[in-house]
Amino acid sequence: MIFEERESQVRSYCRSFPTVFSKAKMDKLWSEDGTEYIDFFAGAGVMNYGHNNDYIKDKIVEYLQGDNLIHGLDMFSVAKKEFLETFTKEILEPRGYDYKVAFTGPTGTNSVEAALKLARKVTGRSNVIAFSGSFHGMTMGSASLSSGADFRKSLGTQTTGTTFMPFPTGFFATFDTIRYIDEMLKDDHSGLDMPAAIIVETLQCEGGINIAPNEWLVALRELCDKYGIILIIDDIQAGNGRCGTFFSFERAGIVPDMVTVSKSIGGSGMPMALVLIRPGYDKFNPGEHNGTFRGFQLAFVSGKAALEYRASYDFDAETVRKGEIARNYIEKEILPLDPTFEMRGMGLLWGIDTHDGAKAKAVAKVAFENGVIMERSGRNDEVLKVMPPLVITDENLLKGLEIVKNAIKEVYGL
Ligand SMILES: Cc1ncc(COP(=O)(O)O)c(C=O)c1O
Repeated sequence: MIFEERESQVRSYCRSFPTVFSKAKMDKLWSEDGTEYIDFFAGAGVMNYGHNNDYIKDKIVEYLQGDNLIHGLDMFSVAKKEFLETFTKEILEPRGYDYKVAFTGPTGTNSVEAALKLARKVTGRSNVIAFSGSFHGMTMGSASLSSGADFRKSLGTQTTGTTFMPFPTGFFATFDTIRYIDEMLKDDHSGLDMPAAIIVETLQCEGGINIAPNEWLVALRELCDKYGIILIIDDIQAGNGRCGTFFSFERAGIVPDMVTVSKSIGGSGMPMALVLIRPGYDKFNPGEHNGTFRGFQLAFVSGKAALEYRASYDFDAETVRKGEIARNYIEKEILPLDPTFEMRGMGLLWGIDTHDGAKAKAVAKVAFENGVIMERSGRNDEVLKVMPPLVITDENLLKGLEIVKNAIKEVYGL
């Protein structure tokens, strides 16, 4: 195959899903030989609005047919204007947010780099606190903030400027991390440098579907206020409606100082990333975080259409309703299959923690052979991740879950 012959060893997802994909529609994908797959992966959170969603696709086609601007660096354009207007009207204003929007290079990691850079500039400090179980990207700054040893090792150089603290999950579920950080910061002999920022995912996706409790997030916000630390929420995967609200942190009623947003903000797989910045912190000099592809106009068009689409019906309520279908099914049909199983999640994002990486891998493999694309995450990749496009039909959701259940039965010999 040309892929094995020519493509770098760095390729990864194709190893879990070894087929040649050609078509996709809403909650399904097809390989070139016509095999059909139910999508429980959603392009790692990019396809929340579904593959080739007709409403969004029509707007893209119309834009292309009109010979409109495609690439615009960060110049003013009609597409960017309309995206910003729609984002303001549909997302920011109803929530009372007054964020400035910085478009970065169109990947999640680039928006994390921008937020880091800005937090360090604004505070004049260098250290940043991140959490165990975190994932923020694969470039120098973002990988330095990512807890997985292999991610940091892949940089091939020492990472500096990050202090990891325990995320409130597993052994640390009852540990008062916030109090611990507070005591360390109070003590000028603790060895902990005052951080520029604390970066956190309210729900760790790659970390294994670990949820920060609301009161923990509120206490974190208070801690940041107490010391003038910038609170950055990385909403790249858990945002865009995945948790049942547009931003994942809405449930805690907190307002972060910066929010990194990417993946489904581009509406249909068109790459876009941005940082939301509290106005007082928007201290970038012009061009200080530049990048050639910050103005991919099709992403603005597609992202705007996606926001219109979500406004056209009770999108978040539907996400929560379908999430309950998944939760009920997993609770009743899957958890009883093995006493070690646990489930965690919210909205339409559920993790089945098998506590066994080898078995989880085998289950995902069998599920794929039987028509479900499903990723794993967490320590040893032992958490099966149910993360379909938010537009999945009830029928396909249940069908997919049944395939997962049967895959578990096969692997566990039940
Ligand atoms: C929470 C979070 N932050 C950052 C990233 C990095 O995004 P990208 O892969 O687009 O660089 C990811 C990707 O999965 C993510 O889940």
